[in-house]
Formats: sequence, structure tokens, C-alpha cells
Amino acid sequence: MGRDIRFYVDSADVGAVSDLVVDNLVHGVTTNPTILERAGRSVGDIPALYERWEAEGAREIFFQTWGDSTDAMLRNANGILSLGDLAVVKVPATRSGFAAASALVSEGASVLITAVYSQAQALTAATIGVRYIAPYLGRLRDAGRDGVAEIAAMQALIEGTGTDVLAASLRSPSDVVALAEVGVPFFTAAPSVLAACFVSDASENAAAEFEAAVERGV
Ligand code: E4P
Repeated sequence: MGRDIRFYVDSADVGAVSDLVVDNLVHGVTTNPTILERAGRSVGDIPALYERWEAEGAREIFFQTWGDSTDAMLRNANGILSLGDLAVVKVPATRSGFAAASALVSEGASVLITAVYSQAQALTAATIGVRYIAPYLGRLRDAGRDGVAEIAAMQALIEGTGTDVLAASLRSPSDVVALAEVGVPFFTAAPSVLAACFVSDASENAAAEFEAAVERGV
């Protein structure tokens, strides 16, 4: 089988998300409480968003659990999972988060550990058997760290374990390409970053020339 590479859209802006999902340009949708807030939404909107994106054809839909204890995180995660088979639960890479993730994995849930900032956390996630980890490239770089090198090291560490890197905090097409070059398979980014991946002036010019040739022939 060939290498599986996927884009996800990291947004709760329903118009922007629908454009990408309906056109089948992304595998699914990722959110977290900050992303919901930025779109004027809250965790109370999660069921309606799930229903909408499922109907539009998303193949995976990620919502993040919340709570000040492992038990609270588990309760909220179970609410997310009850929405349907497309639900993936995001859990922050904290002590309570790792405990919640471990319990969810043992129940058979698809889990992503998010806000991963170290190789040791990546390794821990793989020992638990979560499906994905989300390291934050842009934020690593904001902290003065070599984000591409650190995420490349995480990728090498967990390669072949059943846990995959789904990179986040990607701010330009070159971020996506740099991580793909070191073997990262999955990427989530804002609609504007994904849109920038699709376009090039040279392609636009070539397309305009094709159209002009058609027009000249009719
Ligand atoms: C994803 O879970 C993160 O919220 C997102 O990718 C962060 O991106 P930013 O660092 O550009 O805000």
C-alpha cells in the first residue's frame, strides 16, 4: 500500500469547513475549545457540529475533552464518543490527560493526544497506544525551538508503533512540506493555510491560457 497522507481542517468556521469537506479536499475536521470560541461557539455546539460535518462527508471529526480531573475528562470524552463512529477524542498532554487517554484506548476509542511538546511525551503517547499525537510546529518555533527537527525526531521515535503524527499549528504551506519531507503523514491547518497549499500564480496563469484556447476555438 502507498503512503497515506491526509489533510484535516482545523476550524469551527462552518462555512469555511463545509467548502473543504464537501469538495472532499480534507479527510476530516479538528477542533479544540479555543477553535470553537474563535468561531463564536462552545462545547454545547459539539453535537450539532458533528451532525453537520458527518452529513457533509467528513471521515473523522475531532473534538477535545475538558475537565479538571481524569474523571471529568472521561465523562466529557464519552459524551463526544457517543456522537458516532467518526468521533475522535482529543486529550491534552497533561498527567490527567494521559490517564484519561489510557482509559479511553482500553475501551477501544480513537484518541489523539494534543499539545505535544517533547519527544518523551510522544513516546508516552505511543506506549499508551493512542491513534494520533498532535505536536504544534508554530508554537514550538514561537518558543525559539527547532520545531521541524523536534517533530522529525518524534516521527522517527514512534514510526511503526500504531501511533501517528498529526501535526498542528501549521502556518504556511512550507510548514506542511517541511514536515512531509521528514515523514509526517497527517496535517491539520486553518482554512487559509490549506487554501494557500492549493494555489500558485503559475498554475492560475496556465489555467487561464487553457481557457483562452477553448474560447478561441468556439
Ligand atoms: C490545534 O489544536 C491548535 O489549536 C492549532 O493548530 C494552533 O495553531 P496556532 O499555534 O497557529 O494558533
